[in-house]
Amino acid sequence: MTESTRVALVLPIPKLVGSFAACVAVVAEERRYLGLVHGRSEGETREFIESVWSDGGQVMLAIDGDLVVGWCSTIPQTSEGFTHLAHIGMGILPEYRGQGLGRRLIDNALGWAWNAEYERLELSVFTDNEVAVHLYRSVGFVEEGVRRRARKLDGQYKDITFMAIFRPDLEQNPPSA
Ligand SMILES: CC(C)(COP(=O)(O)OP(=O)(O)OC[C@H]1O[C@@H](n2cnc3c(N)ncnc32)[C@H](O)[C@@H]1OP(=O)(O)O)[C@@H](O)C(=O)NCCC(=O)NCCS
Repeated sequence: MTESTRVALVLPIPKLVGSFAACVAVVAEERRYLGLVHGRSEGETREFIESVWSDGGQVMLAIDGDLVVGWCSTIPQTSEGFTHLAHIGMGILPEYRGQGLGRRLIDNALGWAWNAEYERLELSVFTDNEVAVHLYRSVGFVEEGVRRRARKLDGQYKDITFMAIFRPDLEQNPPSA
C-alpha cells in the first residue's frame, strides 16, 4: 500500500484539530508555499474551522490514521455582493506530496462548492509554485493576473498569481452582465 492509498478525506472532528494545526504549521514553516509562515494554535485552528462552517464553507482534511496529512479549505466571501464566491487554500505534508492527494482534495472541493451553488472559486498561488499552478490549471482554473513582488520574505521577492474558475454551467452560459 502506498502512502496515498491509506489516506482518507474527512471533515474535521475534535480529535483531529491538533493534528490539523500541526500539519498547517509544517507547511507554513517551509516559508515557500503559503502566505502564512507560522502555524496557528489548536484554539485558533478550532476557531478557523468554526468560522468557515458558520460562513457556509468547508474544510476537508486528508488523514492517514489519526494524522492529518493535508487539507483543502473553501472559504466563502461574506461581504454583500461577493457571496457567490469562495477562496480555496490547501496544503499537504511533504512526504505525502506527488501521489495524487492534491488532485483528490481539489476535485472534492470543486464538487462540494458547485453543489453548494457557489459560482466562482478563487485562489492565489506563488507564481513559482509550479506543481500547484499545474494542478489548478489541470482542473480548470485560469490565471487572471499577477501581483509582482507581492511578498518579500527572507530578502526574496515572490510574485503572486490569481486564478479563478466558474461553475461549469456558468462557464458554458455566462449570465448577462
Ligand atoms: C501543491 C500541492 C497541494 C499539490 O498536491 P500533490 O498531492 O503534491 O499533487 P498531485 O500528486 O495530486 O499531482 C498533481 C499534479 O502535479 C504533478 N506533480 C506533482 N508533483 C510534482 C513535482 N514534484 N514536479 C512536477 N509535477 C508534479 C502531478 O504529475 C500531477 O499532474 P498530472 O496529473 O498532470 O500528472 C502539494 O504539492 C502541496 O501541498 N505543496 C505545498 C503547499 C502548497 O503549495 N499549497 C498550495 C498553495 S497555493
